[in-house]
Amino acid sequence: MSGAATNMRQPAKVVPVITLDGPGGSGKGTVSRVVAQRLEWQFLDSGALYRLVGVAAQDQGIAMDDVAALTVLAERLDTDFRTLADGREQILLSGADVTTVVRSEASGDVASRIAVIPAVRRALLQRQRDFRQQPGLVADGRDMGTVVFPDAALKIYLTASAEERAQRRYKQLKEKGISVNLSRLLGEIVARDERDSHRETAPMTPAPDARVIDTTGFSIEEVVTRVLSLWESKFV
Ligand code: C5P
Repeated sequence: MSGAATNMRQPAKVVPVITLDGPGGSGKGTVSRVVAQRLEWQFLDSGALYRLVGVAAQDQGIAMDDVAALTVLAERLDTDFRTLADGREQILLSGADVTTVVRSEASGDVASRIAVIPAVRRALLQRQRDFRQQPGLVADGRDMGTVVFPDAALKIYLTASAEERAQRRYKQLKEKGISVNLSRLLGEIVARDERDSHRETAPMTPAPDARVIDTTGFSIEEVVTRVLSLWESKFV
């Protein structure tokens, strides 16, 4: 092969990204996972990274206002996401299985307090972008379309009324045998929305070019079909 031929550079193939942002309980976690499975793409659960920083901080006795220590934790987070043979997800932190604690309501609350810290968000930015691998990525979060993947091929923002989201969460927890008070749950959801959408850095908001889908009254399968048909009508 001639030198000229070997030096010829192919343009790097852009890895397509579909972002799904929105508040907790909008269905975005389940919808994103199913869309990723159907397309056989990579999946990023960005909320789990914020939750993991909180879990690691609590393990190490780091205070929620110790910005420097929390930032170092975020930079050095030693984590792994696995899918077990039976299809269940497993989240490891420094080799230990922390799936249950990461998924708890308490971890979500701690995550949203840590997520207001700009230095922590910056520390997690590249880690999130590293999930962008062939053949494509479905990214679930709050700022996927606005900050982390502003060039995403398709941006979706899922929403639903706070009451409907509280009902969904209540049902999920009940099925797991966890007893909760519905009106307390609603109060927590409203407080978390407030914190997520009013923070200064990367607030939860639809990207200007996002398609907003209100999932109130829709099943997961109906929302998945909608997202996949938006993708197909645009790119397939
Ligand atoms: O989606 P999940 O409930 O796991 O997210 C937990 C918290 O992490 C959110 O309430 C939000 O404060 C924060 N988060 C964020 N940016 C993301 C994902 C999650 O600020 N991209």
